Amino acid sequence: MKAWCRKPDPGSPDGQPGWGGAVREGKPSKQALADARASDTCLMNKINLAQKLSLFDDHWNPRIITELNGQYLKLVKFKGPFTWHHHDNEDELFMVVKGRFRMEYRDDSGREQSIWIEQGEMITVPRGVEHRPVADEEAQVLLFEPASTLNTGNVENEFTKKKLAEI
Ligand code: NI
Repeated sequence: MKAWCRKPDPGSPDGQPGWGGAVREGKPSKQALADARASDTCLMNKINLAQKLSLFDDHWNPRIITELNGQYLKLVKFKGPFTWHHHDNEDELFMVVKGRFRMEYRDDSGREQSIWIEQGEMITVPRGVEHRPVADEEAQVLLFEPASTLNTGNVENEFTKKKLAEI
């Protein structure tokens, strides 16, 4: 079992503690809570999206920024077209932090549709719906989805990221 809480992330520019790559599992013990308080670590930390987004440049490679109730929030940068896929068991939420992208999807009749998601907007793609995000210019996006979600869903190809970094 990994530690419930860890030392501040030394890379945090405003001095705010981060996860330091830790994963929280289960309910913290009294001792873990006491240790966390004593060392001023991650109990009530804020997360700055711009700061997290400044930590990486690559595209289609989501980073986990926090976890709650079995779901992850991830940050990812889109550029160009992704791969068509669907998720059998997960609904996925996409929120644009910066830029814009087009969500292409297939409707009930199999017809291709698309919808632009602008900065400050979000869309939930229900499980089972074929989709692919396309970004003509770079888009910076927050994802909210169950921890089990694979980025390429039912497809495995060069876009597939099985192990995601935590930042
Ligand atoms: Ni998807």
